[in-house]
Amino acid sequence: MEEKTTEKKQVIYSAIQPSGNITLGNYIGALRNFSIFDEAETRLYCVADLHSLTVRQNSAELRKRSLSLAALYMACGLDPENNIIYCQSTVSAHAELAWILNCFTYMGELSRMTQFKDKSAKHADNINAGLFTYPVLMASDILLYQTTTVPVGIDQKQHVEICRDIAQRFNSLYGDVFTVPEPYIRTVSAKIQSLSEPTKKMSKSDPEESFVSVFDKPDVIRRKIRRAVTDSETEIRYAPETKPGVSNLLTIISALENKPMDDVVASLSGLGYGALKEAAAEAVIREFTPIQARFDEIMADKETLSRLLKQGAEHAEALARKTLRKVYKKVGLVQL
Ligand code: TRP
Repeated sequence: MEEKTTEKKQVIYSAIQPSGNITLGNYIGALRNFSIFDEAETRLYCVADLHSLTVRQNSAELRKRSLSLAALYMACGLDPENNIIYCQSTVSAHAELAWILNCFTYMGELSRMTQFKDKSAKHADNINAGLFTYPVLMASDILLYQTTTVPVGIDQKQHVEICRDIAQRFNSLYGDVFTVPEPYIRTVSAKIQSLSEPTKKMSKSDPEESFVSVFDKPDVIRRKIRRAVTDSETEIRYAPETKPGVSNLLTIISALENKPMDDVVASLSGLGYGALKEAAAEAVIREFTPIQARFDEIMADKETLSRLLKQGAEHAEALARKTLRKVYKKVGLVQL
């Protein structure tokens, strides 16, 4: 028989947790890449508030941060009329599919997840079951929408891989229920490290001075980057293994200015670390200033923001239900 050539239409899905500050790392690794898919048929961008519950949160803060993150998506250029922007907890299908997929995921594969190992080391007093099954909820997010492409930071690659494994396992038992998604990771250099400990990933749960937040004002950005850890040499060179601090600043410039690393290094040749930090800080300020202005405008009209999120949730719900109904039927749940 001839091979079918029907191409699946592109469905983009991504999410960010509303826990804590959104950092420069989240911005370069994920957020900034969201708007490059404007050609895709369906694009969903979710605020992963259920995922945030795996770590203790202040309730009022969490709610506030969820709304701000949705506003930030819009401020970064995602038009809510053409993109489905919504909060995960407002579409109950996520939690429902997660239960089912929990029954198709092995303890062994979940225990291999690096994020689980890291987070359980960091929150040793609260290694809850949600932290362990976190990737299953993430797989549910993705699979509910027949997603083809998942733009994420490199740190989430393993989670997209387990999602693929779960989808393939389910499909091999029940037929073609889920689309098997591909991760989309823009460049190898898209991993932004901590400013104070440049061998570690930049993380919003680390001390203030180790990251730049999307909401930091220019003077704060300059101060934090000026204090970034470098090394005892003077030469500006890209060498992530031996010069992690300097390489991290170079990566920030290269990513934000969309310039190849060699060009960035060449443009700074003969200059000192002071100039490198200045260039990095200016690149960040140039990027964040207009986003902050749009963000303030969106947040000033909460009514419109709520209406847009409700609209996003309804749209997402309708798509998610289709997949969930199919899954319920396949696994043998009662159909009334
Ligand atoms: N786990 C992701 C992170 O911490 C957030 C996330 C939740 C996600 N669900 C997702 C990312 C679905 C992509 C697709 O960054």
